[in-house]
Amino acid sequence: MLKKNTSLESSHFPVMLEEIIKICSPVSGGFYIDCTFGGGGYSKKLLKFPKTNVIALDRDKFILNFVKNLEKKYPKRFTFFQKKFSEVDKLIKNQKADAIIFDLGLSSIQLNNLERGFSFKSKESLDMSMGLSNMSAEKVINEFSEQKLKLIIKILGEEKEASRIVKNIIKARSVKKITKVNELVDIIEKSKKKNYKNKINPCTKTFQALRIFVNQEISELVKGIINATKILKPGGKILVISFHSIEDKVVKFFFSNFSSNRSKPSRYLPENLEDSNSLFENYKNKILTPTNREISENSASRSAKFRYAIRNKNKFIFPDELVVKFKKYLDLESSYA
Ligand SMILES: C[S@@+](CC[C@H](N)C(=O)[O-])C[C@H]1O[C@@H](n2cnc3c(N)ncnc32)[C@H](O)[C@@H]1O
Repeated sequence: MLKKNTSLESSHFPVMLEEIIKICSPVSGGFYIDCTFGGGGYSKKLLKFPKTNVIALDRDKFILNFVKNLEKKYPKRFTFFQKKFSEVDKLIKNQKADAIIFDLGLSSIQLNNLERGFSFKSKESLDMSMGLSNMSAEKVINEFSEQKLKLIIKILGEEKEASRIVKNIIKARSVKKITKVNELVDIIEKSKKKNYKNKINPCTKTFQALRIFVNQEISELVKGIINATKILKPGGKILVISFHSIEDKVVKFFFSNFSSNRSKPSRYLPENLEDSNSLFENYKNKILTPTNREISENSASRSAKFRYAIRNKNKFIFPDELVVKFKKYLDLESSYA
């Protein structure tokens, strides 16, 4: 996540930059992959270390200006792909990475561009695509069945008041198509019980659900971290900053259940799983979070949770159990209407 007001590169505040660089500990000739380029904060810092090579990805074509600056400055050491990170393993041949970074979710560049429909303040169309997606929030809100809408908002948004919100969406859309963000905001605000203790915006969870669904974010995360693991060197690191509980659950499950010291084997794992089937070195289940200073300078960083794991020497074996464990989310994201 980036700080608000990101019209220029200089105003970027990439989340937990120092911690990310410390864990990467870039070496001369090292090869790093930044799966979520955004404003390019991590790529830029990694390239400052002598003779590093960086590949960056982002699904969003609107960040290409930031890319151009780095391409000009480091023509031989920096390469960008406008691709989804689920495809990260297909972008390199015969090379293995020293570190692969995921800084999940939305950038402030995307949030603050009101035309993209991510912000509650927008009066524009209900789009919410980060790029390379065939879906829009408008389609979900107007065309999906009551039951499917309820599942999306309840499961992906973890919204307890999903039923009431959806009933009111169905009522409103039977009179007139819901096309603008502010129309949806009105419906959600009228549907939610007033809770004066609750500091979060009443629309947060519904918007989170729609955004996750439109961009198939949980499927992207599951495929992304699996495919990244395939292309890590032994000793290479996979670093993930997540911003909500579903993302963190996925990352935690993967790192803890596929590390050589997993404490309690998951009930999804075969009982005779050999240690040679693990993918990561001992995992301590430690979460790093932003310092108070960073949170005071950039409130968007407050829910960041940073986890990393270190690839061991074992041959890559596909972690089917990760897919089984999160099947509920993956099925929901891949079914339409
Ligand atoms: C939180 S921002 C990253 C900010 C970045 N670390 C920086 O320093 O500026 C997340 C970025 O990841 C991109 N993104 C999200 N999901 C993606 C995916 N599945 N594939 C590729 N890019 C993705 C978004 O478009 C957004 O630009």
